[in-house]
Amino acid sequence: MGLSLCLIVFRNLVLKLLLINIFIVNYVSFASVQLSSCHDEERLALLQFKDSFVIKKSACAYSKVLRWKSSNCCLWEGIDCDAETGHVIGLDLSSSCLFGSINSNSTLFSLGHLQLLNLADNHFNFSQIPAAIGQLSGLTYLNLSKSFFYGQVPLELSNLTKLSSLDLFCNYDRDTEEKFLQLRNPNFKTVVRNLTRLEVLILSHVDISSEVPDLLTNFTSLTTLLLKGCELYGDFPDKIFHLPNLQWLDVGFNENLTGRLPEFHQRSPLNTLKLTDTQFFGSLPYSIEKLDSLEIFKARHCNFSGPIPTSLGKLTKLTILDLGINNFNGDIPSSLQNLTHLTSLLFDDNQIIGPIPPWLGNLTMLTALDLHFNLLHGPVPQSLSLLLNLEKLLINDNNLGGNLKLDMFFNIKNLTELGLGHNNLSLILGKANKNVTSHQFNYLDLCSCKLRKFPHFLKNQSELEWLDLGENKISGQIPNWMWNTSTYTLTLLSVCNNFLTGFDQIPAILPWVNLGIFDISSNMLRGPLPIPPPSIVEYDASNSMLIGEISPLFCNMSSLYSLDLSNNNLGGIIPQCLGNSSSSLSVLSLRNNSFHGIIPQLCSNNASQLKMIDVSYNQLQGKLPRSLSNCLMLEAIVVSNNQLHDSFPSWLGSLPELKLLILHQNGFYGAIEKPKQDLDFSNLRVLDLSSNNFTGELPSQYIFHWNAMKYIKSNGYGLTYLSAKTSYQSNLAKGQYYSPIEERYTITIMIKGVATHYEAIQDIFTFIDLADNRFDGEISDLFGNLKALHSLNLSNNRLTGCIPSSLGNLSELESLDLSQNNLSCYIPQELKQLGFLSSFNVSHNNLTGPIPQGNQFSVFDNSSFDGNPELCGDPLSKKCGNSQSSPPLEEDHKDSESILKKYWIFILAGYISGLVVGVVLADTSMKRTPEWLVERVSKRRKGRKGQRT
Ligand SMILES: *[C@@H]1O[C@H](CO)[C@@H](O)[C@H](O)[C@H]1NC(C)=O
Ligand SMILES: *[C@@H]1O[C@H](CO)[C@@H](O)[C@H](O)[C@H]1NC(C)=O
Ligand SMILES: *[C@@H]1O[C@H](CO)[C@@H](O)[C@H](O)[C@H]1NC(C)=O
Ligand SMILES: *[C@@H]1O[C@H](CO)[C@@H](O)[C@H](O)[C@H]1NC(C)=O
Ligand SMILES: *[C@@H]1O[C@H](CO)[C@@H](O)[C@H](O)[C@H]1NC(C)=O
Repeated sequence: MGLSLCLIVFRNLVLKLLLINIFIVNYVSFASVQLSSCHDEERLALLQFKDSFVIKKSACAYSKVLRWKSSNCCLWEGIDCDAETGHVIGLDLSSSCLFGSINSNSTLFSLGHLQLLNLADNHFNFSQIPAAIGQLSGLTYLNLSKSFFYGQVPLELSNLTKLSSLDLFCNYDRDTEEKFLQLRNPNFKTVVRNLTRLEVLILSHVDISSEVPDLLTNFTSLTTLLLKGCELYGDFPDKIFHLPNLQWLDVGFNENLTGRLPEFHQRSPLNTLKLTDTQFFGSLPYSIEKLDSLEIFKARHCNFSGPIPTSLGKLTKLTILDLGINNFNGDIPSSLQNLTHLTSLLFDDNQIIGPIPPWLGNLTMLTALDLHFNLLHGPVPQSLSLLLNLEKLLINDNNLGGNLKLDMFFNIKNLTELGLGHNNLSLILGKANKNVTSHQFNYLDLCSCKLRKFPHFLKNQSELEWLDLGENKISGQIPNWMWNTSTYTLTLLSVCNNFLTGFDQIPAILPWVNLGIFDISSNMLRGPLPIPPPSIVEYDASNSMLIGEISPLFCNMSSLYSLDLSNNNLGGIIPQCLGNSSSSLSVLSLRNNSFHGIIPQLCSNNASQLKMIDVSYNQLQGKLPRSLSNCLMLEAIVVSNNQLHDSFPSWLGSLPELKLLILHQNGFYGAIEKPKQDLDFSNLRVLDLSSNNFTGELPSQYIFHWNAMKYIKSNGYGLTYLSAKTSYQSNLAKGQYYSPIEERYTITIMIKGVATHYEAIQDIFTFIDLADNRFDGEISDLFGNLKALHSLNLSNNRLTGCIPSSLGNLSELESLDLSQNNLSCYIPQELKQLGFLSSFNVSHNNLTGPIPQGNQFSVFDNSSFDGNPELCGDPLSKKCGNSQSSPPLEEDHKDSESILKKYWIFILAGYISGLVVGVVLADTSMKRTPEWLVERVSKRRKGRKGQRT
């Protein structure tokens, strides 16, 4: 691990630290160094301290200790002695390549006169901060930042009551986000309680995991309080904003920290305020104008709402304003045109309305203007082309309209990131089509810009990382010059949803060696599948007219997460090597092609990440591969409409995550045995065994284990769809672009006898279809336990006996189909309780007696009941005789007690629900069509917005 994990990131911080250093240097009066001479025991202590480390010169440029030679240690670099006493009072060994641990025996702690100790940016090999630090009670300045200390911060630190500056910043691994230091026991409050003289307190990336203690509001000397990424929670004490000397406050990246901005009654010296990635909420107070020293204000990804106050325009020193990803509404106040020092303005991902104000063109210092994901409308003002310092302009995902000349941006020399997509813009290529620009972009989102051809200027682009040309009207072939465009840098290429017909002279393997996302879906592409480079993560060629076979080279893609080739004319045998290929593959969709042969032995590799496999609508044969039982992450298996010949895959029951099992229309056969284990299929929500050759009894014993179908899950806020999710980040030299990848599971199921395809499935949806088999025996009462069921289809089997009255417990049920069986007895009155039932079919059975009347039953017509000669009452024309209009006392039940109980429930239900309730429920049911449950949504990846992080 490198010595300087966080070096680059916090440019600002480094600057500030320099300032602090200068301040501290004055504080302990370094100027007097040369005059004094060194105490022997201190010289020895320093040498021993130095010798307890390896000096790793490979890891840093220069070490101060290498010049520690002369006898007067007061002359050594990094040492400061008191002018009168000659005692060592300052030790600054920052960035000195020290490697090794420190413990309480260290001679460092014999330097009892120390006032300044700076060991920042060394590597103390994950040792703890020694408790002996408490002996250095004269310290006013302690800096242990970026130094690979590990574990709990000792209580003894609280002994350093003279501290004016404490810095434990960035003992932290940026890649894994592991925090090395903890301040839990003793906690934050205990350790800092007595350090009331602190002016600078920097604990960013220390695992504090507590509330922010109120007592900090008494630390009136504080100028700098940095608590970024400390896992703070609770309500931030708003009095801290009123600390009279506070200049720099950063509590960002504490996702559970709440708070609001208070009213500011007097001017404040606050210069930098960072609240990014917290739960701060409420509106920005008008009195924010009092913070007239503010230069940097970042509150990205919080819960702020309300309009942007016009008073913000009085903060004329602002250089960076980032309020992205909040719920701000209203328009961009014109007062902001006074913020002429702004270099970065970011309101992205809010609900800002109105046009883009033309005066933005006056803020000529801007290097970044990010307004994407808002509700802006109107044209893109020509004045934006005056922003000659712009590097990034993102106005995609608004309602902007009109014609826009792409070449208006070509004068902005440093503009490398341009997002225009998902508006209503008509992009006019002008010069951009004449290939005359030397302008180089990294990021171009020209999605849905009504383009009709590949813009010719792309031919000269050699640094593109992210190119989105999706949802345009580009027809014809992908031109051959595209294969030479940005071959090293391109990580995302999307041309989805166009009218492309082919590839002009496509090379054997796509030329982009770092390509991560390749999306050519929804076109009219003919020809074989382009073969991606091994770096590919998401490959989507669905919904086109591709032919040929899948090359075995796809088995070598070790990063491949999702492979979607559905709805093409591909054929041949699925390469068997996919079975032992990379463990990264999570989504494999080969739906609706012409593949034949057998399904590969997927997950032969135990570490498999496979979450969804859909090979439905092909001509696959043989058995389900037994290796699927290794796919411990598997959530969905969809193999419908093939020619598989196998018995019921009870061996899949042990897959803990399995939610969908769809075997519809194959040659599955035989009886379904009783489950063997306790937790078989406990997460299953959608089971479709219809149109096979299953025999024997219904798999009622499994009902004991189908827990997911028993408990009604509230869908809380918003809709959650079943999907495989990950994120993709491109990390080439220039940018860091990020895209969430979400592959939603799709299904085709029979709804009212019609095969209906759904592009997304809400995770509360539960469904059982066992129709069109040869199941016999009775319908078990146990089905009444599946309370979360939305649809139950047992039609076209050989079922006998009565309809269990327990089905009246399925309060979420919307569709019940028991038609074409040999069911007898009355239709239980309890079914009237099913307030959401909108589709009901018991036709072609031997049911008898009166049809229940009222509630949902008033909605169903003849077709629900036809073919039962002994049924009577509305909506059938056959009237019930006197003996039949009374409740079903003579029903053939084994147990007279249950007859009584049923009868009683019937009366009670009738009494309570009555007509009014019944009507209300019927009304509700109209809104709850199956579409409510499994919405059709387009596969558009809303989240695909590259952004620099
Ligand atoms: C510290 O010193 C004590 C006594 O001198 C010794 O027992 C102990 O092992 C030392 N600890 C370390 C970590 O060197
Ligand atoms: C705290 O500081 C005092 C001197 O002010 C010293 O005597 C004592 O040993 C220190 N305590 C600890 C635990 O280091
Ligand atoms: C803080 O100071 C008070 C009084 O000076 C003392 O009683 C207490 O022990 C100190 N707390 C810590 C954690 O050192
Ligand atoms: C601040 O200090 C005052 C006076 O010493 C004390 O009464 C008060 O409790 C302290 N407040 C907090 C929050 O510690
Ligand atoms: C925030 O709170 C949630 C819910 O309590 C918890 O799961 C999550 O781990 C917390 N995050 C942090 C960083 O503490």
